[in-house]
Amino acid sequence: MKNDVIICRCQEVTEQEIIDAIRDGASTVDGVKRRTRACMGLCQGKTCERLIERIIARETGKNPAEILPNNARMPARPITVGLFRDKEGE
Ligand code: FES
Repeated sequence: MKNDVIICRCQEVTEQEIIDAIRDGASTVDGVKRRTRACMGLCQGKTCERLIERIIARETGKNPAEILPNNARMPARPITVGLFRDKEGE
């Protein structure tokens, strides 16, 4: 049965895609992240990380406390060089 419930709203990753990633060998949130892009959206996993941990726990039989968390990174946005120049001119 295909499960189309969206778990990661930012990247539109479904529960089935996460289950497929786990069956492909992912056993951590980062493993799921690399395979599906879940946790890479604007909220950086604040909304979906706990749900993904629970799905991993359910599918692997692990205790949720044993599952390694997501390595969150600050969102990077391109800026113009002029922003540095303006700061130095103050
Ligand atoms: S809901 Fe997954 S990154 Fe925002």
